[in-house]
Amino acid sequence: MSSPLFQFEANPAPVEANERSRLLENPGFGKLFTDHMAMVRWSDDKGWHDAKVMPRGPLTLDPATAVLHYAQEIFEGLKAYRLDDGGTALFRPLENARRFRESAERMAMPLLPDDLFLGSIEALVKADRDWIPSIDGSSLYLRPFMFASEVFLGVKPASEYLYLVIASPAGNYFKGGAPAVTIWVSDHYTRAAPGGTGAAKCGGNYAASLVAQREAIAQGCDQVVFLDTAERRWIDELGGMNLFFVFDDGSMLTPPLGTILPGITRDSVLTLARDQGIAVREAPYAIDQWEADAKSGKLVETFACGTAAVVTPVGRVKSRDGEFTIGSGGPGQVTQALKARLTAIQRAQTPDPHGWVHRF
Ligand code: PLP
Ligand code: COI
Repeated sequence: MSSPLFQFEANPAPVEANERSRLLENPGFGKLFTDHMAMVRWSDDKGWHDAKVMPRGPLTLDPATAVLHYAQEIFEGLKAYRLDDGGTALFRPLENARRFRESAERMAMPLLPDDLFLGSIEALVKADRDWIPSIDGSSLYLRPFMFASEVFLGVKPASEYLYLVIASPAGNYFKGGAPAVTIWVSDHYTRAAPGGTGAAKCGGNYAASLVAQREAIAQGCDQVVFLDTAERRWIDELGGMNLFFVFDDGSMLTPPLGTILPGITRDSVLTLARDQGIAVREAPYAIDQWEADAKSGKLVETFACGTAAVVTPVGRVKSRDGEFTIGSGGPGQVTQALKARLTAIQRAQTPDPHGWVHRF
C-alpha cells in the first residue's frame, strides 16, 4: 500500500464510498480532504525520522510552538491526475521537491531529500487513490508543507520540524470556472522586495498578500497583481499565479525571476511556447505599458498560470485610475492553445517530449 520508506496506518473510519462519490461530483477547491495524511519528523539529533501515512486528523500543538509565533513555514502545491488508461500521474514532482528545498534554505529549515518528498506523495496518493476525482478538469491537489514544531519562544531556527502532506480533491480554482478573470492593481501593498522571501513558497508571503487580495475582492476583482517594491511600476505576479503577456506579432513576455515565485507552470509554458517557435522574453514589463499596449491593440492576450489556476485568461484590469480590457475581454487563442497543450501533457493524452509526466 505505501512506499517502503513509509509506515502505513489505515484510517479505521474512512468516508463511506457513496458519500465520497457524491462529494467528488463537485469538489470545488481546498474544502474537501481525503482519509489519510503523510508525516515525517525532523529533529537536530535524529534528522528525518518516523515517516508514516496515517489517518488524517487534527494536530495537537503547544501554544509556544515556534511556527505560531515566527511563521517558520513553507509549502508546495502539485496535482495527481487520473489518466484515461486508469493509471495515476504527477506532473514534474521533482521540480516541487527542488523548490521545497530552496524555500527551506531561505527559511533556515532542514532540507527534505527527494526520496522522502516523492515517497510521501506517492504513498499518500496510493492510499487515497479513490479520492482522485474524474470529472473534466479535476485532479487531486497535494499540499506538502513543513513547519517549526519546537516549543520555544527564542527567535532562532527551530531544532524540530514536522513535514506533512494532505490531499484535497479539486475542480476549478475560480468559482464557476471563470472564462476570464479581472485583476486589481495593488498600488500600495507590495509582495516581495529584493533580498526578501518572494521567491520562497512560505506561508508569510500569502499572509502579507491577503489585505491586497481583500482590496481586490472589494473592487469586484478576482485577483491582485503586485508591482515591484522600489518603483511600484514593474509587474511582478499575482497573489498565487505568474503572468504572461501575448503581443500582436505573436511574441510573448513574462516577468523575470528574482522576487517572484519560480512557477513550475511558468517554466512549462515557457518551454512549450519555445517548442512551438514562439519568441518569449523574460523581461520587466511596466504597468503603464501594459495599459498602453492593451489600448493600442499591441497586447492581445494576458494569462495567469499556476498549479491551482492552470492557465487562466485575464480579461480586465482595474486600478484606482480606471480600467482597461484585454483583447475581447475573454479567452484568447494563444492562451487557449497553450492551456490545451499543457493539460493534454499533464493527463498523458499526448506525447510528453520533456519527460514531465511521472506515472506510478
Ligand atoms: N506565484 C505564486 C505566488 C504562487 O503561489 C504560485 C502557485 O504555486 C505560482 C506563482 C505558480 O507556481 P506553480 O506553477 O509552480 O504552481
Ligand atoms: C498553487 O497553485 O499551488 C498555489 O499554491 C496557489 C494558491 C492556491 C496558494
